[in-house]
Amino acid sequence: MARVELQKIKIRYLPRLIILSEEKEVSTKLEGSLIFYLLTEIKNYLKLSPPKRRAIFYNGVSVGTIAFVNVKNGSAEVGYFIGKDYWNKGIATIALKKMLLFGFNKIGLKKIYAHTNKNNLNSQKVLLKNKFIMKKSGGEKLYFEKLK
Ligand SMILES: CC(C)(COP(=O)(O)OP(=O)(O)OC[C@H]1O[C@@H](n2cnc3c(N)ncnc32)[C@H](O)[C@@H]1OP(=O)(O)O)[C@@H](O)C(=O)NCCC(=O)NCCS
Repeated sequence: MARVELQKIKIRYLPRLIILSEEKEVSTKLEGSLIFYLLTEIKNYLKLSPPKRRAIFYNGVSVGTIAFVNVKNGSAEVGYFIGKDYWNKGIATIALKKMLLFGFNKIGLKKIYAHTNKNNLNSQKVLLKNKFIMKKSGGEKLYFEKLK
């Protein structure tokens, strides 16, 4: 059983996480670069709204991040990536499960949603294994949500 933990992001984690997120197989599946999101989060942090991003650790090694973005009115979008050398070990599925507990039970979210590309079967599987429901499938994007 994979030992997966979520930790608040520390500056010293960033060089490795940015390198993992910039690998072609990962970056082509993400909406924006990790650097872009981190800059937005620093801006929010300065406005005293702490970022909701966690580093994902697998057997003590940082392998990716998971985050709530667009947090408003009790709902948030979840986004995540895992470095490609660590795919298909169940890491994202466990990380999302832990993030859902944090979102629903600690910070009071009522709805958590996600978008995936139609061809991103891997990510869809991670959502379905966490009992997200697919609600819309227009165009290239699928929309999934889970209510508390
Ligand atoms: C999506 C992503 C986070 C998944 O991480 P992961 O740790 O490999 O996910 P898991 O191992 O928990 O689950 C992946 C599942 O997809 C399955 N899978 C992999 N390739 C598949 C394919 N081509 N067709 C169907 N299922 C597939 C795996 O078998 C596994 O399911 P299983 O546990 O039932 O066997 C990772 O691939 C990633 O970072 N991709 C690039 C960034 C990205 O797409 N982020 C999400 C944007 S919406």
